[in-house]
Amino acid sequence: MTDRYAVFGHPIAHSKSPQIHAAFAHQTGQDLTYEAILAPLDGFADSVMQFFAAGGRGANVTVPFKEQAFNLAGEMTPRALEAGAVNTLKFLDAGRILGDNTDGAGLVNDLQRNLRYPLAGKRILLVGAGGAARGVMMPLLRTQPALLVLANRTIEKAEALVMQFSEKTEQGHLVRNLSAIAFDDLRQQFDLVINATSASLSGAVPPLPNDVFAAGALAYDLMYSRADTPFIAWARARGAATADGLGMLVEQAAEAFYLWRGVRPDTAPVIAALRA
Ligand code: ATR
Repeated sequence: MTDRYAVFGHPIAHSKSPQIHAAFAHQTGQDLTYEAILAPLDGFADSVMQFFAAGGRGANVTVPFKEQAFNLAGEMTPRALEAGAVNTLKFLDAGRILGDNTDGAGLVNDLQRNLRYPLAGKRILLVGAGGAARGVMMPLLRTQPALLVLANRTIEKAEALVMQFSEKTEQGHLVRNLSAIAFDDLRQQFDLVINATSASLSGAVPPLPNDVFAAGALAYDLMYSRADTPFIAWARARGAATADGLGMLVEQAAEAFYLWRGVRPDTAPVIAALRA
């Protein structure tokens, strides 16, 4: 029997997830369908439960429902608990729902495997302190960077995240290397600058200093678009190598696919097809 999966979001029309999961299913010979479902802003849980009742086996969750998905799942993977947000649901037996978060793993896999950019020992600047930044912090810290610095327009939010994650990670190495800073106080250079803000949505670039990039630095935008995002264009003009979030999108999907099906798809041809 064909198993049903779906992504829930609002908006959802432009989601690439159905195309990505159809490619994974084709490649691995898994018998499944994957659709995009527009959940009403005030009806996310009902929408998911209807899908579940109609035989759905699992779901992805995107903006703005990742925190609601966290509350909906009765069971949680450790990485979902750490992130405080859920982007993947797996429907278990007896009405139980497992929540996972594959975003951080998606980012780290894209950086280390696809872009061949090892993170150990790197000086990383993470820009933003919203849900997107929060979801990738622990997976980044586990790669043992030399530094993970959070910069955010509202500095209190970055400081709160640092406090919270310092409490979670008692191993000295992880805690010592994590700090928050205001944009105005940034003097240091970084090997990797990750844009986890939503500034691009309004065509803006976070107010980073022009010399934020160390020699050979990489600028990574969690967002992607057909044309360069404002951050990618800004970084390229300052000499950084650049990468957008398309690879991360496919990698987080592959992690979800593995959770559901126990099969790991090959992401490279799917990323290449989406770029083409
Ligand atoms: P998401 O779930 O995408 O992270 P969010 O939780 O609303 O969305 O967080 C948006 C992030 O982008 C925040 O860090 C926000 O900064 P503030 O905490 O100061 O609001 C950041 N952001 C949005 N627009 C920005 C801009 N024009 N310049 C700099 N930062 C911006």
